Amino acid sequence: MIEVIKSVDDLARQKYDLFVPTMGALHAGHQSLIKLAKEKSDQVLVSIFVNPLQFENKDDLAKYPKTLEADLKLAELAGAAAVFAPSYEDIYPGEITKIEAGAIGDLYEGKSRGDHFSGVLTVVKRLFDLTRPAAAIFGEKDFQQLFLIKQMVKQLNLPIEIIAAPIIREVDGLAMSSRNVRLDEAGRKSALIISKALNKDSISDMHEVLATEPGFTLDYLEVIDEETFLPATVNTKNKRAIIAGWVNGVRLLDNKRMGSSL
Ligand code: PAF
Repeated sequence: MIEVIKSVDDLARQKYDLFVPTMGALHAGHQSLIKLAKEKSDQVLVSIFVNPLQFENKDDLAKYPKTLEADLKLAELAGAAAVFAPSYEDIYPGEITKIEAGAIGDLYEGKSRGDHFSGVLTVVKRLFDLTRPAAAIFGEKDFQQLFLIKQMVKQLNLPIEIIAAPIIREVDGLAMSSRNVRLDEAGRKSALIISKALNKDSISDMHEVLATEPGFTLDYLEVIDEETFLPATVNTKNKRAIIAGWVNGVRLLDNKRMGSSL
C-alpha cells in the first residue's frame, strides 16, 4: 500500500524530486500528471488537500468530491511513491499571509471567482515550502492557474521547475475534471459544446457553435497570448483560446492552442 504522510514533521524527514499537487477526486487527468512525473523520477509525491481559500463559493467547496481511499489507489497505480494528505492546521497553522495574484489574477477566472488565484498561489507556495521538490507538474486545463504559478515561481525566485502537462479528454472530447461527476446525463451532453467550439479556427465561429447549445451559459471566451495572458493580436506567436461557463450550475473550463487566425 502506498505511503500516506499525514504530518508536516513526517514530511520534513523525506525528500521527493517530483511533486503533483491535487485536491483529490483523482481521475485519468491527474493520473497522467503522476505518470509524467514517474517518467522523470521514482520519487514522486502527490498531495491531496481541498483548499478552502480558493473556493469563492461555499456550496462548491461543500460539494467538492472527497474520495481518499480511491485516490490512494489511483495515485499508487500511476506510480506515486507517497501521498501527502495534510490537515487544514498543517497548511494554515496561524495567521495566513496571502500571496496576491496581480493584474492577470483579476482577469477571466479571477473576474468571476474573486480571490480564487490568491487562494491557489497561497496554498501552492505553502505546499512548495513543505515539500521542497525539484519540479512540480500542473495540468494545462487550468491554463491561467499554470501561468500564474509560473509567474509566482519567477517572481519569488523559487528553485522549482514548473512542468506543464497536456489536457486529458474523454473519448468524446470533454476535458477531464473532478467536477464532471456533478453533471446529469443531459448536462454531460451539453458540456460537449465546449470542446466542439474549441475545434473551430476563429473566435467568431466558436461563439456561433456555443450559441447553439441552450444548456451552456458562457462566462468568457477569449484568445490570449500564452506569454502574457493578455488578449492575442494577429501578431501573437502562441495563441490559446480559453473558455469558461456553466452547465447544470457546474463551472467548466477548457482551452486549446490556436493556429494563426483569430
Ligand atoms: O489544480 C488544482 O487542483 C488546485 O488548484 C491546486 C493546484 C492543487 C491548488 O489547490
